[in-house]
Amino acid sequence: VQYPLDHVAVAVEDLEAAVPLYTALTGGAATPRERLPSQGVDVVFVGEGAGRIELIAPVGDDSPVARFLARRGPGLHHLAYRVPDLTATLAELRARGVPLIDETPRLGAHDRLVAFVHPRASGGVLIELVQE
Ligand code: CO
Repeated sequence: VQYPLDHVAVAVEDLEAAVPLYTALTGGAATPRERLPSQGVDVVFVGEGAGRIELIAPVGDDSPVARFLARRGPGLHHLAYRVPDLTATLAELRARGVPLIDETPRLGAHDRLVAFVHPRASGGVLIELVQE
């Protein structure tokens, strides 16, 4: 595996309502709710390792996740892959003509560097790259 799966993210309207099922499924604890003002979301991770789930809920009505929920309803939001050098991976993808949402890394949940690949590159599924 070149880039292991880091997490799978599910967009929900209500974080607290979603946590118990994913806690039961993963057998893991939920992290404290973290607010990411730059993305307009609250985030909770449930479980450990590659099978963990990131639950995301919008804060306010004008974030990308709020628009996602309004348009498509709750559901799978993105897959996240773990990369050792995010800047290098972005350069490699750009050289291959892969459309990127983020041309440079930005700060994501748990203060990790992240960048998003445009879903038109990947079968309509948003892809997040997370630096280890
Ligand atoms: Co994520």
